[in-house]
Amino acid sequence: MNLTTKDEILSRFLNANNEPISGQQLADEFGISRTAIWKHLQTLQDEGYTFETIKKKGYLLTTTPDRVDPARITSYLETARLGHTIRYFEEITSTQTFAHELVRNGAIDGTVVVAESQSAGKGRMARPWESTKGKGIWMTIIIRPNVLPHQAPQFTLIAAVAVVNAIKSLHKSINPEIKWPNDILIDGKKCTGILTEMIAEMDGVQALLIGIGINVNQQKEDFPEELQNIATSLSIEANEKLNRAKLIATTLKYLEKYIDLYLQVGFEPIKTLWEEFSGTIGKRIKATTLREVVEGMAIGITSDGVLEVKVDDGEIKRIYSADIEIEKPI
Ligand code: BTN
Repeated sequence: MNLTTKDEILSRFLNANNEPISGQQLADEFGISRTAIWKHLQTLQDEGYTFETIKKKGYLLTTTPDRVDPARITSYLETARLGHTIRYFEEITSTQTFAHELVRNGAIDGTVVVAESQSAGKGRMARPWESTKGKGIWMTIIIRPNVLPHQAPQFTLIAAVAVVNAIKSLHKSINPEIKWPNDILIDGKKCTGILTEMIAEMDGVQALLIGIGINVNQQKEDFPEELQNIATSLSIEANEKLNRAKLIATTLKYLEKYIDLYLQVGFEPIKTLWEEFSGTIGKRIKATTLREVVEGMAIGITSDGVLEVKVDDGEIKRIYSADIEIEKPI
């Protein structure tokens, strides 16, 4: 794990089971002075953590603000690679844009950029992505798999399967479905978007940037009016406040698991999982591509993650990129 000293100290408190820790003990463990420890605690207090001083025993962590800081994510992390370097921001333009900069500077496989808010969050097709402060998960995962450029779109589907599994494993009452290629919906309303970008040469991928935006703890009024009827959050659906740091760590766990599975045996098991969670396959859809509008029955995805649609004259059309509307039964 690549935590700063301040985050390491916070980690100690998060794992202390509500027991106080003495300043001297921390100073000895970290090999720094008690004054330096005190300064780190001051910084943590400025970030919203509070500590009580217990006579002869030390400091007790009494309040933890709702933040997705590296120490908090790390306390739930069960991965071998993903999330071992985390770059955390209170506010950023876009975790995706920053991740591009990190890749140019040689960021390692598994680096995660996460922010409490984004002032210029990016969606697919250059659309803006609404990123309310402290309410969602706005993160980009940098991976450097040994794959060819044409395999990149499959990672969007891998990510979608990972997010659905993470949500389902933590919150049984929520029933998310994947809308091809990369939206996760609950009861027809969008709760997650995934944007996969690639930096590649003709003969190989240098890095994939998997941007994941999950609406977690927003209430209806937190969304701008134009989104209120088409977007939802996990909290609205589950009727409780959710632990964002735990959901990040769980998403990373499944993402690593499915990336490894894919690299070992190929796309077939991912395709099966994706189809199982899909709310698109078996439904009548309208796909608006750059060239045409295709209406018909979505019958499956190919091993490249391309959507196959059977149009009314029986022809099967392949959709590589499109906006999909799932037609409601009359
Ligand atoms: C979409 O559905 O259009 C994709 C949305 C992807 C949003 C995420 S939030 C974290 C990352 N940073 C960004 O600027 N975008 C992605």
